[in-house]
Amino acid sequence: MFSRALNLAIFCYLASLVSTQDTSIIYPTTAAASATALPSGHGYTYIGCWNETSDIPQAQGSRALTGGKESANNTMTASDCLAYCSQGFDGLTMQYAGLEYGRECYCAPTLNTASEKLNDTKCMYACNGNASELCGGSLTITLYNLTSDSKTGIAWSLVSAQPAWYGTAAIITLVVAAIL
Ligand SMILES: *[C@@H]1O[C@H](CO)[C@@H](O)[C@H](O)[C@H]1NC(C)=O
Ligand SMILES: *[C@@H]1O[C@H](CO)[C@@H](O)[C@H](O)[C@H]1NC(C)=O
Ligand SMILES: *[C@@H]1O[C@H](CO)[C@@H](O)[C@H](O)[C@H]1NC(C)=O
Ligand SMILES: *[C@@H]1O[C@H](CO)[C@@H](O)[C@H](O)[C@H]1NC(C)=O
Ligand SMILES: *[C@@H]1O[C@H](CO)[C@@H](O)[C@H](O)[C@H]1NC(C)=O
Repeated sequence: MFSRALNLAIFCYLASLVSTQDTSIIYPTTAAASATALPSGHGYTYIGCWNETSDIPQAQGSRALTGGKESANNTMTASDCLAYCSQGFDGLTMQYAGLEYGRECYCAPTLNTASEKLNDTKCMYACNGNASELCGGSLTITLYNLTSDSKTGIAWSLVSAQPAWYGTAAIITLVVAAIL
């Protein structure tokens, strides 16, 4: 009886250690030379390694990617981040998605004008969740730009590529269809 209680206590203690470790930060490591930036995914295309802006005076402390949402964890991959950003936020399209410090994902409607494209070698950390992929660096961002919005891109490009009457005709068709 005593040993069963003791076992349970030890089990609970070990379980609490595991859950403590799960929430602690696993710091990024420099990627192997063979690691590459994921070229594209979830409508986004890789556009290079860019500057974080939080320590640049003219940016007044704001980040390169603000006005959207962010996420960070120890199993981050490029694909996870792009999927997360592609869902949009607060009704806004997240035009940019970026990975930083191996484990951080930022989604934003615009890119801070103080951010600049750097040499690709400045983004050298492996993604914590996939050592074959690059996830930025310290104050550098593996940056992605939305090139085809899976939710609205196709319909929008069809309408915007046509003369104005085409869009009007499409709306009338929709209204008629709704009435019928
Ligand atoms: C890890 O990244 C590589 C390169 O992008 C990719 O081919 C592979 O499928 C990824 N592995 C996992 C488990 O996501
Ligand atoms: C980012 O770019 C600015 C402007 O070129 C430069 O002053 C700054 O040192 C860069 N920061 C990093 C972290 O590379
Ligand atoms: C880490 O963050 C990404 C992007 O938000 C998400 O897809 C993934 O599920 C998260 N992983 C964990 C273990 O929470
Ligand atoms: C990027 O940096 C590497 C290593 O310092 C250098 O060999 C390469 O020429 C640089 N590329 C560009 C485009 O500046
Ligand atoms: C991202 O894509 C948009 C839409 O094509 C374009 O206007 C913008 O210049 C691109 N941004 C960068 C930093 O290349």
